[in-house]
Amino acid sequence: MNETIKSIIERRSFRKFKQEQIADDELNLILLAGSYAPCAGGRQSPVMVVLQDKNMIAKLGKMNKQLFYQNLPPAFKMKVSSEQPSIADDERIISAFYNAPTVITVFAPKTYHYPIEDCSVMIENMMIAAHSLGIGSCFIGRAAETFETEDGKEIIKDWNIGEDYTAVAHCILGYPEGNSPKAKPRKEFVVKRIS
Ligand SMILES: Cc1cc2nc3c(=O)[nH]c(=O)nc-3n(C[C@H](O)[C@H](O)[C@H](O)COP(=O)(O)O)c2cc1C
Repeated sequence: MNETIKSIIERRSFRKFKQEQIADDELNLILLAGSYAPCAGGRQSPVMVVLQDKNMIAKLGKMNKQLFYQNLPPAFKMKVSSEQPSIADDERIISAFYNAPTVITVFAPKTYHYPIEDCSVMIENMMIAAHSLGIGSCFIGRAAETFETEDGKEIIKDWNIGEDYTAVAHCILGYPEGNSPKAKPRKEFVVKRIS
């Protein structure tokens, strides 16, 4: 198996991090990998906002967690990870960003096709690149809802993000703490060969 496929298969979501900030040259490689993701129409329209301010990360992480618990389906029960528990596993976790030292939020124009797809493939590129550098990552949802709140709208005004952009998702990054989660076995029915 080559190194690229190994990285894809071995990448796992991390939610426990060392507080040491990731090195800038590693961050730049991760952003570069994101910038080479495929994008609709080749427009390269997503914007990656890198956040490393502890207070802002804590504020947005708390808002995000609140949104998660506000919108739970009625009979919600889920076990995500015992090694790297998520806010769905443990209500006591304060921030949906899990104290990661770096949070990248990806925005794309609402006025063009495929903002969700463009931003998601970008994040996947970044997570695989991060894994290949020994950096832990996790995809975090509820970005659009976070920036649709009154507080969220103020924040993006400060960040100079145009009103025609929507936040699609976050990618949290940091040096991993604790054990890497084991991948759940792949479901057999995911692959259907039609001959
Ligand atoms: C669209 C999407 C949204 C996700 N949102 C969250 C999230 O909000 N919080 C979180 O802790 N993990 C989130 N995850 C990570 C998943 O929980 C994780 O990918 C899944 O449990 C499989 O684990 P693995 O990434 O280690 O293979 C998300 C993943 C995807 C693809």
